[in-house]
Amino acid sequence: MGLMSYIGKQFHKPTGFGGRLATFVMNRQNWRQYAGTEAVLALGVADSVLDIGFGNGYMLHRLASRYNCRFYGIDISPDMLEAATKRNKKYIEAGRMSLSLGSAEQTGLADESIKKVYSVNTVYFWSSLDAGLTEIWRILRPDGVFVNTVYSKAMLDGLPVTKSGYAKYEIDELLAAGARNGFSVKAMSIVEGRSYCIVCKKI
Ligand SMILES: C[S@@+](CC[C@H](N)C(=O)[O-])C[C@H]1O[C@@H](n2cnc3c(N)ncnc32)[C@H](O)[C@@H]1O
Repeated sequence: MGLMSYIGKQFHKPTGFGGRLATFVMNRQNWRQYAGTEAVLALGVADSVLDIGFGNGYMLHRLASRYNCRFYGIDISPDMLEAATKRNKKYIEAGRMSLSLGSAEQTGLADESIKKVYSVNTVYFWSSLDAGLTEIWRILRPDGVFVNTVYSKAMLDGLPVTKSGYAKYEIDELLAAGARNGFSVKAMSIVEGRSYCIVCKKI
């Protein structure tokens, strides 16, 4: 396996030392996306919040340190579950956070149990947009919102590590998928042309 393919795989399912390194680097490179996602989420104290694909749990830790919400997280990687659990130990022990293995397509959460769902840079790895959005619709409360934070196809096309294993979507494709799954949708730019929050409101 070539180096670029190996790094690409570590973003898809971080594992072992390579996974820890990839997520460490990603935490530094993606600070604008984390800040943009936090602003769009506009969390309130009573919110129940789910992070889909939490990686090493950096964003969950950031939000839990600032907002008194009930947090949930799911990820497909056992190694990331371990890393995120370690990072967020105090919130888990306080009963404010629950982390588990799961996927965007199968979260394991109850119907209409979550007020706000977010996901940063995971949609490229879902089996399909419709499978993930159907599941997110199911678990969201009637007034719930899903903030899907992504890099644009043009930006990802310029990276050597995304040559294979990445579903790269135009912003219009993400908006159309949200709309056909019943959401009211809008795109909010983080860095014009490069990164966006796709906001899907359950109506
Ligand atoms: C590029 S990393 C992003 C991690 C984190 N969201 C962040 O921005 O720091 C992608 C993460 O999504 C997870 N993932 C991949 N496919 C997934 C899926 N279908 N459902 C949920 N998580 C998934 C990976 O295990 C990995 O932790």
